[in-house]
Amino acid sequence: MRALVYEGPNKVAVKDVPDAVIERPGDALVRVTSTNICGSDLHMFEGRTAMEEGRVFGHENLGQVIEVGDAVEHVKVGDWVCLPFNVSCGYCKNCERGLTGACLAMNPGTAGAAYGFAGMGPFEGGQAEYLRVPHADFNCLKLPEDAEEKQADYVMLADIFPTGYHATEMACVKPGESVVVYGAGPVGLMAAMSSFIRGASKVIVVDRFPDRLRLAQQIGAIAVDFSAKDAIDQVLHHTDGMGADKGCECVGYQAHDPQGEEQPNITMNNLVASVRATGKIGVVGVFVPEDPKAKDKLEKKGQIAFDWGQFWFKGLSLGTGQANVKAYNRQLRELIHLGKAKPSFIVSHELPLEAAPEAYARFNERRDGWTKVILKPGNEPARDRNKSEAAVARR
Ligand SMILES: NC(=O)c1ccc[n+]([C@@H]2O[C@H](COP(=O)([O-])OP(=O)(O)OC[C@H]3O[C@@H](n4cnc5c(N)ncnc54)[C@H](O)[C@@H]3O)[C@@H](O)[C@H]2O)c1
Ligand SMILES: [Zn+2]
Ligand SMILES: [Zn+2]
Repeated sequence: MRALVYEGPNKVAVKDVPDAVIERPGDALVRVTSTNICGSDLHMFEGRTAMEEGRVFGHENLGQVIEVGDAVEHVKVGDWVCLPFNVSCGYCKNCERGLTGACLAMNPGTAGAAYGFAGMGPFEGGQAEYLRVPHADFNCLKLPEDAEEKQADYVMLADIFPTGYHATEMACVKPGESVVVYGAGPVGLMAAMSSFIRGASKVIVVDRFPDRLRLAQQIGAIAVDFSAKDAIDQVLHHTDGMGADKGCECVGYQAHDPQGEEQPNITMNNLVASVRATGKIGVVGVFVPEDPKAKDKLEKKGQIAFDWGQFWFKGLSLGTGQANVKAYNRQLRELIHLGKAKPSFIVSHELPLEAAPEAYARFNERRDGWTKVILKPGNEPARDRNKSEAAVARR
């Protein structure tokens, strides 16, 4: 089968690799029709993780089941399914409590497994024609009859819609509250949309890329460009000088300063300064235990200089970690099905798998108009729906 293979820092190629097959009786085999490039792939693409060369990327996957193992009862050949990026067992201590992002069985010795991911087990990714799904009855989210037609929406259930929602859940966003979201990448935009779903009265989104900030405005958020003026001042200006009730971190350890230089502690300290006393912060942006290639001395050891005194003094609290996709994907699926949420508003490109290397390069540059890429490996006619470029052309 054709698959996108990691070949070292900033190098990926589409190659022939051995077909994914049923390996265990609980597996299903899925023909992947939609698979996204994620900001998490970019940390690996840039060589900023311990990802092994030769591995296949892709943890945001949707497709049609073409084969099931002997022990699979619920999932049937022909079903359209979306796969949570977490590969989980369903029976360990954490899975039983709904914490599938910290499954103890699928990647023994640590907590949490994922498809095509550094340090998260041997599972190959879905930026390929076929994907093996372990414990299929537990991991597959079945999709309704509009699955094929709405796959650009449903594929967001694999990761970023539940992840954005998870940030708002950890921040305990309540009706009527104000929320500041750092990062207007796909995850930040999903956190902004999720804040509105939970009834936030005001959502402020901080980034420096105009195309991404425009998407935030499109769903009713206030856009803050931190390269134009200090982010904290702008958030305080929009929140009567008090700070937002709640905050979401959707950037991670490769955060930038206003000039575009990496500064891993900037978003965490901006949150401490721009969330009101007693507020809560949900951190879904990825931070890593070590980052040997970082310029910052502390960051090399996975540490940041954090404004702990201010954090403590304000009585703030914090939640972190991988999203437990299965805790939310079923409910969020219903919002899509009934037309109450349309996460595909962030999609700029739908491209054939063969175009993946070019797409990685452009998405990694945060090139204007490259806000979210869906790859279409499972032999569907691909369309370029670069809305942002079209919008720019119209002006
Ligand atoms: N916890 C989880 O389960 C989970 C799941 C998916 C993604 N992630 C992580 O979420 C993060 C975001 O993912 P994405 O796909 O949106 O990535 P992305 O790289 O496309 O977006 C990140 C955005 O943050 C912006 N940014 C950089 N520095 C900033 C700053 N100082 N202030 C405000 N904005 C700043 C960038 O301009 C960019 O638009 C990544 O770290 C990714 O690995 C976590
Ligand atoms: Zn992802
Ligand atoms: Zn488990």
